[in-house]
Amino acid sequence: MPRPWRDAWHDALYGPGGFFMHSRPSDHFRTSVTSSDVFAQAIARLAREAGLDAVVDLGAGGGELLGRLHGIDATLRLTGVELAPRPDLPAGIEWADELPASIEGLLIAHEWLDNIPCDVVEVDDGGVARHVEVDPDTGRETLGGPVESAWLDRWWPLGEPGSRAEIGEPRDDAWADAVGRVHGVALAVDYGHMADARPPFGSLASFAGGQEVDVVPDGSRDVTAHVAVDAAAARVGATLERQRDALARLGIDGTRPPLDLATADPSAYMTALARASESAELRAKGGWGDFWWLMTDNRPRTGMED
Ligand SMILES: C[S@@+](CC[C@H](N)C(=O)[O-])C[C@H]1O[C@@H](n2cnc3c(N)ncnc32)[C@H](O)[C@@H]1O
Repeated sequence: MPRPWRDAWHDALYGPGGFFMHSRPSDHFRTSVTSSDVFAQAIARLAREAGLDAVVDLGAGGGELLGRLHGIDATLRLTGVELAPRPDLPAGIEWADELPASIEGLLIAHEWLDNIPCDVVEVDDGGVARHVEVDPDTGRETLGGPVESAWLDRWWPLGEPGSRAEIGEPRDDAWADAVGRVHGVALAVDYGHMADARPPFGSLASFAGGQEVDVVPDGSRDVTAHVAVDAAAARVGATLERQRDALARLGIDGTRPPLDLATADPSAYMTALARASESAELRAKGGWGDFWWLMTDNRPRTGMED
């Protein structure tokens, strides 16, 4: 039976038998946080430079970021917020299935917003924007009733028949709710688009087993769509920058070690070379470097700033 995309998407990821309820994200795809320690080093530095000693990881997956942070700085207080069960992590790391009411620290949500289900719309042959409905078993789509959405009008106006969009409002709402709890710094990191470069047919995609696969909301695969990052940032007054620029400020520059280190200290050279290549992957054009960092500084003002 066809269902509105948002409902089918929700059940496919988070319902009984939902993808994230029975499989770890890292079993299916690599992310900046699972690939190496380098991203975690930047996050540890970001927290410390902001004077924060706690990190809350929203959508913590298999807890990889928290495990790495613990290894880098065991004095950080760490909490994972995740719908899936607690993975094997050091005892001092807290794990919860919902955000605390108040967060005194750095809140990070890495590749979380893209997994918040949205309504999907498509313009029919008569120029009317309609809800797209989907059969969860097959992925076959049909058009439903007409759509009225102030969010679409503002952030993603549709034109030609056949053009499509995901209504990002639930993501903006979810991020605003999370940021509203933070008395430190809130950071969302995700792939996304801005008003000047929306994907004309939307960006629904599925991944499983390390590959992009047909989009079917049947619980066997991830279902994701790029985030309208300008809308989400505007909602909470966040700054927006590309990951490669944010990481450069945090000392992750991808510079190769000097060649003479190879003879002076081959082992240090190999370590530095590996780190340079991990850093370069995090900053790559056409890859993770294109990800957006949405940052909101909610630290109490001291009156000494100016
Ligand atoms: C793509 S994974 C990202 C995992 C990890 N942050 C990374 O980047 O590798 C998204 C995760 O968000 C979790 N998630 C989605 N909605 C959530 C919610 N409301 N509360 C807690 N976790 C949630 C999912 O279960 C899933 O593990």
